[in-house]
Amino acid sequence: MNIVLLGAPGAGKGTQAQKLVEEFGFAHISTGDLLRAAVSAKTKLGIQAKSYMDAGKLVPDDLVISLVKERLDADDAKNGFILDGFPRNTAQAVTLDSELAAMDRRLDAALLVSVEPDVIVKRLSSRRTCRNCGYTAPAGVDVCPRCGGEMYQRDDDKPETIQHRLDVYNTQTAPLIEYYKGHSILKEVDGDRPVDEVYADVRKLLSLAC
Ligand code: AP5
Repeated sequence: MNIVLLGAPGAGKGTQAQKLVEEFGFAHISTGDLLRAAVSAKTKLGIQAKSYMDAGKLVPDDLVISLVKERLDADDAKNGFILDGFPRNTAQAVTLDSELAAMDRRLDAALLVSVEPDVIVKRLSSRRTCRNCGYTAPAGVDVCPRCGGEMYQRDDDKPETIQHRLDVYNTQTAPLIEYYKGHSILKEVDGDRPVDEVYADVRKLLSLAC
């Protein structure tokens, strides 16, 4: 199954993706994680991307698209993937469709995780992320429960950047909701409930329930 996760920053896309990956073994393609890895490795791409990410702006399409193409070609993505954080605008969505068509593949679902902005701001201000594996948890968790790595606060989870990321989402990414409605693959889940309740609905919506 090939899935795109949509939703505002902090809606819980990464959290739901982690659960789907653990249960079903899909490849998890998170452009945020790929970009953060490039930044910490100080690759040419990471150096170019860092200032955009710190400011809460979208990284230029050509940089992100090349990363995603490479990941879609990897063996682990051949049996199903979850795209988390990509596409982020219509140009990326159109490119994704044509790349998949060239591989004789297609998207099965675009899952929108919906959460109100005031909840988002609270979640992101208190989020901690594992420096090693990208696992996320609310503040208070200092050691990653998955790999034992150090939990830290992302630079773009500071209050001044969060509002800008929400504005970018509303102007550039939210139009994809209509785009995927038009392709008849949009599904929506209420993300403002306990993680496991959201996940139970995600499984149902994706017809993954036993
Ligand atoms: P990215 O890493 O993709 O960030 P994002 O979309 O802003 O999403 P987040 O990872 O912040 O949120 P999430 O929805 O995954 O929430 P999470 O599950 O962690 O992108 C970062 C930057 O990279 C961008 O700003 C841009 O610069 C660049 N970038 C990335 N992709 C790009 C692209 N395609 N094009 C251009 N630039 C790109 O949950 C958040 C918190 O809430 C956690 O603490 C979690 O524990 C908690 N939580 C989750 N679910 C629940 C729940 N149900 N109840 C209570 N708490 C919950």
